[in-house]
Amino acid sequence: MPLPLATERLVIRPYRDEDAAALHEVFGSPEVMKWTPSPPSKDVAETRERLARTMAFTARQPPGFGLWALELKESAEFLGQVGLFPVEGKGPEVEVAYELAPRVWGHGYATEAARALLEYGFGEMALRRVVALILPANTRSRTVASKCGMTLEGPGRFYGLDLLTYAREAP
Ligand SMILES: CC(C)(COP(=O)(O)OP(=O)(O)OC[C@H]1O[C@@H](n2cnc3c(N)ncnc32)[C@H](O)[C@@H]1OP(=O)(O)O)[C@@H](O)C(=O)NCCC(=O)NCCS
Repeated sequence: MPLPLATERLVIRPYRDEDAAALHEVFGSPEVMKWTPSPPSKDVAETRERLARTMAFTARQPPGFGLWALELKESAEFLGQVGLFPVEGKGPEVEVAYELAPRVWGHGYATEAARALLEYGFGEMALRRVVALILPANTRSRTVASKCGMTLEGPGRFYGLDLLTYAREAP
């Protein structure tokens, strides 16, 4: 994906080493991480290591896939992480993902970013199908997936968790 990718209010850009402190609001938050397969980082140092692994993961992906920083266009304020990548790192399905700092929830940012990733995925990347894998109790994320035109397909086992698959096919 040619980054940065801009939407009306947001910018999706590659991670930088300096993002660790801001990213700790996401990776260090029990409120965020309870909806992911990973436990919260215990301190910024652990988030820094996790950021390095995330950047290495992105570097290994085929072009257009990875995990990136999401920020506000106007102020460059760090909001969280979004991504588009092969499920469990191996595919063949492709998933869209989003994790934002709790203080910025409820402004429609995740929906705006995920819509841009889907548009890019179905457009430039010519993907046939994108999924979102969501814990059943995660109503916020389920709302985001629905607002992005993804529909509930049913339960599935991914990342060692019982998740719901939401999916959207290429137009
Ligand atoms: C899921 C997440 C990314 C959503 O971010 P966000 O920017 O707040 O999302 P949006 O504002 O675009 O949409 C959230 C929707 O959930 C709704 N919502 C808010 N609180 C809710 C609640 N308690 N129950 C149900 N829906 C809720 C909002 O009203 C909004 O829908 P609306 O625009 O129709 O009103 C964010 O909550 C998050 O980071 N959660 C933790 C990590 C996570 O769950 N990631 C996804 C893993 S599958």
